[in-house]
Amino acid sequence: MQVGIFQTQEAAADYAAAHIIDVVGGATDPVLGVATGSTPLKLYERLRAAHAAGTFTLAGKKAIALDEYVGIADDHPERYRNVLRTELVGEDKTGLTDELLFTPDSSAPDPQAAAARYDEQIRALGGATIQILGIGSDGHIAFNEPGGSLVSRTHVDVLTAQTRTDNARFFDGDLAKVPTESISQGLGTIMEAKEIILLAFGEGKARAVKELVEGAVSAKWPATVLQMHPKVTVLVDEAAASQLELADFYTERWNARH
Ligand code: GLP
Repeated sequence: MQVGIFQTQEAAADYAAAHIIDVVGGATDPVLGVATGSTPLKLYERLRAAHAAGTFTLAGKKAIALDEYVGIADDHPERYRNVLRTELVGEDKTGLTDELLFTPDSSAPDPQAAAARYDEQIRALGGATIQILGIGSDGHIAFNEPGGSLVSRTHVDVLTAQTRTDNARFFDGDLAKVPTESISQGLGTIMEAKEIILLAFGEGKARAVKELVEGAVSAKWPATVLQMHPKVTVLVDEAAASQLELADFYTERWNARH
């Protein structure tokens, strides 16, 4: 795991965008794994700017989402498919087309079957060339909440009270409006991405980042499974890095390589 500690979120997003532009630009038939939540928004802004400048495009390329709320209205702005459309789809965004944006079908009558279909679809696409990740304050990635299987496939998961409280800000601050379940790529599915880039910003993520980087691999902190992946980069700001015991060493190593 490489850990990059940046003074600002902007600097981390600059690095992430440049790296993704390199990887996607250099791959044949790349599949970009995209995340939602507030964390990747500055990165997406930079990808749109690069598209506008003609140095990057997702035109004709595929993107796969991590997860989706179950039971959310098709036209709800917080439906992850709609969030990703707003951020990435269209010539005026990154050139990604709606047909090549893959998300779980969370309005299917049988969400578990829809989850299995989505897992198959990801396999058929060959998995993500590079997967963008955020992290929940309880250590979840996608919507893999604590206590799940570390090798799970795409499945229906129940959201923890912590996650629903964290996400209430996207639903007028009203906890009652936050869906209770999701379809989420499993940890085993995510681990099949060829490369992973995880971003985390702010004090609220400091404990989760400490566990992710320095904790024991455990279902209690699902993101710790990433320690078993051969190519993971963790990009954090100083607040999110504030509980890391070996922060100085990570910075030394990062500086030696960049
Ligand atoms: C959400 C998403 C995750 C995201 C995380 C953190 O619930 N399912 O993919 O990484 O929680 O969200 P944020 O970036 O808004 O802090």
